[in-house]
Amino acid sequence: MLNATTQWSPPSRVLFGRGASTQLPELLKTLNARKPMILTDPGVARTKVMEDVVQLLRNNGIDFELFTEVVPEPPVSCLEAARIQALEAGGIDSVIGIGGGSAMDVANALSLVLKHGGRIHDYMGVGNVDRRGLPTILVPTTAGTGSEVTPIAILTDTEAQLKVGIVSPMILPDISLVDPALTDSMPPHVTAATGMDALTHAIEAMISKKTNPYSQALALEAVGLVSQSLRQAYRDGNDRQARDRMAAASTLAGMAFASSSCLAVHALAYPLGGRHHVPHGQANAMLLAATMRFNAPTCQNEFVRLAKAMNLASPTPESFLQELEQLTCDLEIPSSMAAIGVSENEIPEMARDACGIERLMAPNPRPVAVADAEGIYQSIL
Ligand SMILES: [Fe+2]
Repeated sequence: MLNATTQWSPPSRVLFGRGASTQLPELLKTLNARKPMILTDPGVARTKVMEDVVQLLRNNGIDFELFTEVVPEPPVSCLEAARIQALEAGGIDSVIGIGGGSAMDVANALSLVLKHGGRIHDYMGVGNVDRRGLPTILVPTTAGTGSEVTPIAILTDTEAQLKVGIVSPMILPDISLVDPALTDSMPPHVTAATGMDALTHAIEAMISKKTNPYSQALALEAVGLVSQSLRQAYRDGNDRQARDRMAAASTLAGMAFASSSCLAVHALAYPLGGRHHVPHGQANAMLLAATMRFNAPTCQNEFVRLAKAMNLASPTPESFLQELEQLTCDLEIPSSMAAIGVSENEIPEMARDACGIERLMAPNPRPVAVADAEGIYQSIL
């Protein structure tokens, strides 16, 4: 597993800490940015987080343009709308993405098309970007996606009904600004789902065929932080230590999979998101334990290392799998697909769709045939 050449993609610059977001004006200056375009979603736009950012920039005399229409699983048309607004505003020289994965992904893509022009399709695929875009700062408001440190932006091509990705180290932001205080107001179900997304990133980064010592070090620390703090952050959103640890876990897990990969859990989760609009983290959480049971024959050593990172009393592959099941249960995440409206006759098509996502399925340590994918879905029906 460690014999092949692997690519380690560390982020450019991460600023982490409670209150770090108040440094935004100075950070813009370091990037020579005078008029940023801020991208966020309508939910975050209504929060105090956004009110504070807007006030901070105004107090510092910084001119900016605000786009608040980023939607989940953002379509290419959303990027187009942001581009038109930026061009109409004129003088945009930098981009700030504030929010969950969607706002940060659109910010990355916008920085490219504003700087270099062309259609976003010109940049899609793996390694098709050879230049950096406008200076970019990404600011997460959830603790899960890790998008602030990943060289991946995912958009939806609604015409072709496909998810399309831009994957290149060139789209890593100039600054990842991680302020755990911005996650304090997440409601419990979002804390649970996004936290399980972070855990999935760490576990998949650890067992991927692309894994390496760099991503394993990050993944193990992230798994330890999640097991110390996710239940507590879910029970008591005001527990700052738990919030801080989950924010760190999310960023570390993002760095881990940025230098390794996500796997079958993410591939199997996509049809649940696409067909039934199950939030990304919840879909991963529902599939995590079942998919790891499938992977178990090829991951015995890694599961022991993960069980140790979780500080389990008896660190074995079975105790690791049971902890995943218990955690999902404690976070009150639905354990059955039927409970969220999936019927048995959808499974063959979902399995075919998931197996078609080569980017995620190819590095899975145990090959996943369509019949295997059907079996995993059946086990959580
Ligand atoms: Fe994810």
